Amino acid sequence: MLRNSETDTATRAERGSALRGATESGATGPLAQGREFVWTDADFSRVQALIYQRAGINLHEGKHAMVYSRLSRRLRETGHTSFHDYLGWLETHDGTEWQEFVNALTTNLTAFFREQHHFEILASHLRAKPAGSPWRVWCSAASTGEEPYSIVMTALETLGANAPFKLVASDIDSRVLATAAQGVYRLEALKGLTPAHLQRFFLRGKGGNSGLVRVKPELVKLIEFISVNLIRDDWPFREPFDVVFCRNVMIYFDAPTQRRVLERIHRVLKPGGMLFVGHAENFSESRDLFTLRGKTVYERR
Ligand SMILES: C[S@@+](CC[C@H](N)C(=O)[O-])C[C@H]1O[C@@H](n2cnc3c(N)ncnc32)[C@H](O)[C@@H]1O
Repeated sequence: MLRNSETDTATRAERGSALRGATESGATGPLAQGREFVWTDADFSRVQALIYQRAGINLHEGKHAMVYSRLSRRLRETGHTSFHDYLGWLETHDGTEWQEFVNALTTNLTAFFREQHHFEILASHLRAKPAGSPWRVWCSAASTGEEPYSIVMTALETLGANAPFKLVASDIDSRVLATAAQGVYRLEALKGLTPAHLQRFFLRGKGGNSGLVRVKPELVKLIEFISVNLIRDDWPFREPFDVVFCRNVMIYFDAPTQRRVLERIHRVLKPGGMLFVGHAENFSESRDLFTLRGKTVYERR
């Protein structure tokens, strides 16, 4: 089973930005709630159902303040004056707001070389095949790009610059995917990187761009950035992968959804391929599909 430390951390960070719900306070108007918009338990339940259908994200009751804070921005942007109206409008329209709704409710916490031991295991796995062997890797919840770039840096350091290495980096959130493809980061965000990484793989911004770094084109060109919803049965892959990273996203899914995603990952991984999962994710109940090979690293059966 999964711990929810990551989701709880995100919630704590946002808790200060909104007050308690209407039914708890007994108040009815937005001002009486100390809020800009009326926010009821029924609104929360509706959001819960919609994001579960669209993204598989299982929002538990502790997420009231987070959801209010993130979706209030959508109400302002779309000119709605209540959650009731906004959600009603969303449900009856098939437009771009659905993507914004999903983007608003995903949690995108990530970092370069997060869970460092995975990159050491990846490097030894890459060394295990004869030099020149092709590699296809999928980073399936790539967020703002720190994870896919860490994978590609590991591949270049291990296999050399001309190795036939390809990475597909995907996410459901279009906004973070655009940031990932852009490959521009603040210097402060590069804590997981060594000075050697910085020197070899990043260009420092000058003048108006000082304090920013850009990932070098030699990394970017190895990555294809695409939108993939893990819970939909329309993954666009024809060739199987040697390695899949699916880290810190399944914690947002319930057990049946996790199982369906694992079955699909099993189908797109080669036998003997590696699956890397997050620090709070444990899929030992799916031992018919994957064998545990190390701390949060599985081998496809
Ligand atoms: C907490 S981040 C983890 C990022 C990275 N994998 C890591 O471990 O650092 C979770 C990511 O999963 C994405 N996500 C959530 N639901 C998804 C879904 N149904 N399909 C694909 N990505 C999803 C979010 O947009 C977010 O960027």
